[in-house]
Amino acid sequence: MNYQAIGTIRTPYTEVTGAPYQSAEPEEQDDRLFYVELNDEYAEGLYRLDSFSYLYLLYHIDRLKKPCNLQIRPAWTGDRITVGLFASRSPARPNSIGLSVVRLYAVEGNRIYTSSLDVFNGTPLLDIKPYIRDLDTKNDANYGWIDDLPDRDHLMLHIKGVPHDY
Ligand SMILES: C[S@@+](CC[C@H](N)C(=O)[O-])C[C@H]1O[C@@H](n2cnc3c(N)ncnc32)[C@H](O)[C@@H]1O
Repeated sequence: MNYQAIGTIRTPYTEVTGAPYQSAEPEEQDDRLFYVELNDEYAEGLYRLDSFSYLYLLYHIDRLKKPCNLQIRPAWTGDRITVGLFASRSPARPNSIGLSVVRLYAVEGNRIYTSSLDVFNGTPLLDIKPYIRDLDTKNDANYGWIDDLPDRDHLMLHIKGVPHDY
């Protein structure tokens, strides 16, 4: 396998500022801070993408410093819980592929403006796929082991990087 980036993700986040653990709720974001710049040679492939309200973005988590361990303690749980790597969304994986679902705000030329992302500025984009209602929405999805945490709703605010007072 030999994947090449097809574009670049632009965000306000750097290795110094850090980034949220996951993308925040779309309505809370400024719609011009986060966008994807697709390489010119792929721009034709954006035809009718703007008919979708949500997208999957797949990207290469290119600046990892953490080792890939098969059991981890997610930081947002306060290091309380041990889970298997594949039962987590940890960025330190055998293949450094990240996945985010984002709201699509606008396509202008080869730029795709989106809701917030949980990646550093300059993260290489691997692919874009439309998020399709009914195909991708699973109404019976649960929280997995996160359901066992007594303060689940509070911790979900941490995962999503939603500011809160407590
Ligand atoms: C928990 S991961 C989740 C990534 C993706 N949403 C997923 O579920 O696959 C998000 C974290 O990855 C780290 N990160 C983001 N972009 C990165 C990059 N380009 N290189 C290294 N680490 C990155 C940041 O610390 C961020 O908080």
